[in-house]
Amino acid sequence: MDKKKYYLEISDNLSALLAGEFDLIASLANTSALLYERLEGVNWVGFYFSDGQELVLGPFQGKVACVRIAFDKGVCGKAFSHNQVQRIADVHAFPGHIACDGASNAEIVFPLVVNGRILGVLDIDSPNFDRFDQEDENGLQHLVNQLCQHLAMCSMPKFY
Ligand code: SME
Repeated sequence: MDKKKYYLEISDNLSALLAGEFDLIASLANTSALLYERLEGVNWVGFYFSDGQELVLGPFQGKVACVRIAFDKGVCGKAFSHNQVQRIADVHAFPGHIACDGASNAEIVFPLVVNGRILGVLDIDSPNFDRFDQEDENGLQHLVNQLCQHLAMCSMPKFY
């Protein structure tokens, strides 16, 4: 299957998964699970959100990860502070890369912009060098846009 078709299929999966469910944590948790299941050669998929001071770990799939990342640190911090996708073929060549899982060799990080405001990032790691090409970036960006439109309609969970 060509990559365009493949990402369209995942987009359909995501629509079905998110339809009618507006709990923020549930939506993020299932999005990370869907991407982890459907993407080949990935060892970590998850979210970091800004608490106003730094990035804080959100729902994810993969090995336990660092909880807090300064805005000026790592691939995630750069994606967030520059509001710019970071597609890294070899994380070991990225100055300041934060190694959570020693198996990661490539990484792609997308800013999450909801209603014009950057809230955090989606981070995807791979053990395969140069795992993400331009077509992956385009396909994943489409999924991120889809998710961000959904997040605009989500409510924060209430704790009783
Ligand atoms: N590698 C990231 C840190 C997060 S983990 O990969 C889950 C970074 O450099 O920002």
